[in-house]
Amino acid sequence: MKKIKTGVFGLNPLLDGGINENSTTAVIGSSGAGKTTFAIQFIRKGLESGQECIFVSLDENKEQIIREAVEMGWEEIMDYLKEETLVFIDASGKDFSNFIRKELHEFVADWKGVGARIAIDPLTPVIWAVENNYEQRELITMLLKQTRKVGTVLCTLEEHGTESDLSGKETIIPMYLADCVIHLRYKAMEGPKNRMLKIVKCRNSWHSEDFHQYRIISGLGLVVQQGDFEKKTKKEAPAELMKMLEKNATLLPEGVYTKMHKTLKSLSDSELGDITHPELIRYIVDEYS
Ligand SMILES: Nc1ncnc2c1ncn2[C@@H]1O[C@H](COP(=O)(O)OP(=O)(O)OP(=O)(O)O)[C@@H](O)[C@H]1O
Ligand SMILES: [Mg+2]
Repeated sequence: MKKIKTGVFGLNPLLDGGINENSTTAVIGSSGAGKTTFAIQFIRKGLESGQECIFVSLDENKEQIIREAVEMGWEEIMDYLKEETLVFIDASGKDFSNFIRKELHEFVADWKGVGARIAIDPLTPVIWAVENNYEQRELITMLLKQTRKVGTVLCTLEEHGTESDLSGKETIIPMYLADCVIHLRYKAMEGPKNRMLKIVKCRNSWHSEDFHQYRIISGLGLVVQQGDFEKKTKKEAPAELMKMLEKNATLLPEGVYTKMHKTLKSLSDSELGDITHPELIRYIVDEYS
């Protein structure tokens, strides 16, 4: 899988290098969590790496988004819009069902580029456009399928309620459909640690399972703290674990041993969490003996 950088400072190593190209990512958070800022950073990164980008706003109008981008220190957004490497689709106030089934469909059919980035901010009004769960799923599936033809998709989702625990029903369907889910847990009324980022899932990729503090910094946008993640990076091959496996080689069928050798070699201790090396070896041996 080819990785592309998110544009969010500190985040890429937590996703083993970035998000997978041509995948769909959902960024979920309450009001003020930094969803639009995240989407702008994602698009900015794409444009700076020479990709074509599309920003679909279903809520704020073009001027508002530009103002936010400029406030974040990104004056060049105007140049990208002028030269049309950045296309802005303002769908705020539209009939979303019709927009997805017709306008977006035609837009994608006419699209000539390859490997673009597309941000949809926020996806929530689409969910509200239809009441029936089945129809909601169908519409979102269609939206993601259409946009994925254009390239790598990032959509944001509003999280309502005060719990910030992803239990709200408005986020459930897109969470299942997306390849990667990032939660921006923002508790406005809490103290200094009121912003925490958690990667909920990322298909076909290793990712950090920790909670990471993040800040929104003027001119930079979201900056995610890696914490002690650096100390337990993937690259430290678990030498002790390999030795234990080698010791138990005779207890495993030959093909299994070869495969396990390859698998364990690329593991990191962070993936094992509290599972100790002897414990893991015991489970493997038990499974095949
Ligand atoms: N220039 C800036 N400097 C520092 N912090 C900023 C700046 N701009 C925005 N922020 C922070 O980012 C927050 C808003 O971020 P953003 O608009 O991305 O959130 P959102 O999740 O999209 O919110 P909503 O759901 O209301 O659209 C602000 O409340 C503020 O804390
Ligand atoms: Mg927003």
